[in-house]
Amino acid sequence: MAETLVETRPANTAFRADVLAGLALPQKAVPARWFYDEAGSLLFEEITRLPEYYPTRVERAILAERGTDFARLIAPGRAVVEFGSGSSTKTPLLLQAIAPAAYVPLDISGDFLRSSAAQLQQQFPDLPVWPVEADFTAPVTLPARAADLPKIGFFPGSTIGNMVPAQALDLLRSMRSTLGPRSQLLIGMDLIKDPAMLIAAYDDAAGVTARFNLNLAARINRELGGTLPLDALRHEARWNDAAARIEMHLVASAAIRFEVAGQAFTMAEGETIHTENSHKYDRRSQNLLLAAGGWRPVERWTDQDGQFSLLLAEAAEAHHAP
Ligand code: AVI
Repeated sequence: MAETLVETRPANTAFRADVLAGLALPQKAVPARWFYDEAGSLLFEEITRLPEYYPTRVERAILAERGTDFARLIAPGRAVVEFGSGSSTKTPLLLQAIAPAAYVPLDISGDFLRSSAAQLQQQFPDLPVWPVEADFTAPVTLPARAADLPKIGFFPGSTIGNMVPAQALDLLRSMRSTLGPRSQLLIGMDLIKDPAMLIAAYDDAAGVTARFNLNLAARINRELGGTLPLDALRHEARWNDAAARIEMHLVASAAIRFEVAGQAFTMAEGETIHTENSHKYDRRSQNLLLAAGGWRPVERWTDQDGQFSLLLAEAAEAHHAP
């Protein structure tokens, strides 16, 4: 495997700026991307194995069952560019179904990226693997040797749902320009369903999601000299029907005062820090989002219970309204 391409943006400065700006808002908020330090990434892996958290299991089943469809619809010789590859656990299901020319995993967590890329390389010894350590929400420069290969973006897990619609559109458009004309995109999107089932998936009985949420506060304390009282914060998952999303919050169980990077903050009892949105979709909202982001839906797969969906799209040509 070749060397990793590293983006040199100082992550800690960006974390500090995001946290300080977010805590100054009337509704305190910290972007969900900061969940994923080493502890957070491990907790997320644990979430994906929880009985209540259906998205990973169901998406894997769709990927495992639809290999023949992928082989028919995805031409051989493409570079598979995975956005936010994490531990790349679903990737082999796609790679073995098609005949890719290379695999380019992108992830913000460098150590995790390198170890999972090395594991994948062992499983596919003949496949060139070119990991890129990068924040995939911003435009990413792909390795030069991938330049002439047609690309297929792979974005499983419904991570798109963690973005508000305007951010989701920006991401889809930036993916389109990163991947180039005639590229394809295979993207997972979670579906709107009974709120009770959604709440259970984001507030599991074993408390793993609560630990995942609280780890963000612990990370602020660790990395930004924070004094957030962790025992006065509790995890809450809410269904916001108007916005079709699950929201995660850290709720203050008493009035608290704390500092982050030398700045003082207060929270009243019941006040929250909004830490994550997880949008859910139906077929029409998926098509609309993809089209607005520059992608033409080609095929859509769902499980038989209608819990989760996987969509294949292709880069749309610039098109003007009639
Ligand atoms: C990464 N992302 C798609 C997960 C989700 O379902 O929104 C993150 C997560 N948050 C709590 N549980 C899982």
